[in-house]
Amino acid sequence: MAIKNVGVLGCGLMGSGIVQVCAQSGYEVIFTEVSQQLIDKGMALIGKFLSKGVEKGKISEEDKKTTLSRIKGTTELKELSVCDLIIEAAVENMDLKKKLFSQLDEICPPETIFASNTSSLSITEMASSTKRPDRFIGLHFFNPVPLMALAEVIKTIMTLDEVFQAGSEFAKSLGKTPIKTSDRTGFIVNRLLVPYLLDAIRALEEGVGTVEDIDNGMRLGCGYPMGPFTLLDFVGLDTTLYIANIMFEEFKEKRFAPPPLLKKMVAAGRLGRKSGRGFYDYSKGK
Ligand code: CAA
Repeated sequence: MAIKNVGVLGCGLMGSGIVQVCAQSGYEVIFTEVSQQLIDKGMALIGKFLSKGVEKGKISEEDKKTTLSRIKGTTELKELSVCDLIIEAAVENMDLKKKLFSQLDEICPPETIFASNTSSLSITEMASSTKRPDRFIGLHFFNPVPLMALAEVIKTIMTLDEVFQAGSEFAKSLGKTPIKTSDRTGFIVNRLLVPYLLDAIRALEEGVGTVEDIDNGMRLGCGYPMGPFTLLDFVGLDTTLYIANIMFEEFKEKRFAPPPLLKKMVAAGRLGRKSGRGFYDYSKGK
């Protein structure tokens, strides 16, 4: 099951990282966005990350050029007909994802593998909207995609073994360590990570410690690269609230219930780094 051409739906934060690592690993990549403006924005994100890599001495100027030459952005879904694997990294909206996949189902040859980078929506439900549910997997990457070494590979009860295997091998070819998980909301990482982040907010609400002290506690006491509040700001409080709501809806367990402070912060527009303020203030830079 040779994969040469990769399609990526969406070139935002996660999509641009996925496009970049695929191109850096030698694949020809076509990504789709809804407008030329968003194509340019996605390319700029990739260019910026690669330039930082050059600055840090991680890659050469030549590597950057070669990587960029393997990437093409388009607004036309039909251009993905040449792809052997398509990874969806569009907004977390089930109806939209199902619509995209059922359109692709008509455009792509039957052997093309479909994958979603969703962090919390059902892969089984998405797969069921196509005529190839046996060639459908989850490929969940972590932010920042070029730096995080993991990919969760999700096998539904319909996924063929050889398709799951091809997904795992593909993740390895990107330099990622694949872990196998079944299609349960949150998979492995978010099932453990989300309750931990929500608990940090509850600890803050209860006055156990300040934002800085809780962060330092986990960073220096446990060796985590970021404390929970730095990570919450990094992931986005709206994204965390969205995932927590889906997980709570699915399991009805208190550990997934979003705490009031998280809801208030999102309502106030304090979404983390992306809005300039979350648990920390980024208005004056880092
Ligand atoms: N190109 C190439 N390499 C780069 C680079 C770039 N543009 N930018 C940084 N690097 C390299 C650095 O050179 C450095 O390499 P060495 O270790 O070899 O020196 C390494 O990447 C780390 O970079 P920095 O030193 O600049 O930054 P850091 O040490 O503060 O690490 C981080 C940054 C990797 C993001 C780290 O803070 C981290 O791991 N944070 C946790 C992130 C995390 O948990 N992500 C998961 C979020 S949850 C999710 O994504 C799932 C979901 O569904 C919500």
